[in-house]
Amino acid sequence: MSDLRVRNPGWAGNTGEFDLTEEQVRGDDFVGTRPVEGGHPAATPSYAYMRAERDPEAPLFEGPYAERFEKLLTRYPEKRAALLPTLALAQEVRGHVSPETMARVAELLDLPDAYVRGVTSFYTMYNKREVGRFLIQVCTNISCNLCGADDVLEAFLSTTDTELGEISKDGDFTVVEAECLAACGFPTCVQINSRYYENVTPADVPNILDRLKERGE
Ligand code: FES
Repeated sequence: MSDLRVRNPGWAGNTGEFDLTEEQVRGDDFVGTRPVEGGHPAATPSYAYMRAERDPEAPLFEGPYAERFEKLLTRYPEKRAALLPTLALAQEVRGHVSPETMARVAELLDLPDAYVRGVTSFYTMYNKREVGRFLIQVCTNISCNLCGADDVLEAFLSTTDTELGEISKDGDFTVVEAECLAACGFPTCVQINSRYYENVTPADVPNILDRLKERGE
């Protein structure tokens, strides 16, 4: 058993390993029954909001995404209440939420542009500019900080050869600081796209980056 497994570097608290796939952690059924168009309407707001594969120029809410958007609307008493998952859907498709995307969302939900911009800029989960295929969010809040988060952050920045918020030359990585990720019992916690890596130390960083590049998730 590797050192990583002993320290429980799981996925959102699950006992796991850094190299587990989404299918292995969540189960084939869950992943296999999560079609792009949303499946059962009850499941539509629960999609991963950051994926490695996306296109900043992709059409918004067309084809299966239009279907998922329509299902989202059925989940709420009024259109404006669907704003957060609609922004998440847009980010899933394009990787970030540009002013143009915000305007389109405002149009679809019959909301003022300023309202959508206000909500989008309030939440750090929405990327306001393009990021690498893997968005690496290192928690530097108190618990993680006391356990060496600054060194983990520095290791991600130096290994990817980037500054904070910058996209690496190969387009793969963007490293940012995050506030508490609610995994304080497993410092340092790092969120990469929609997945948590817990108990991360600087020594783990090259390993994590290599695996991301290898398996593309
Ligand atoms: S302080 Fe890092 S997860 Fe809470």
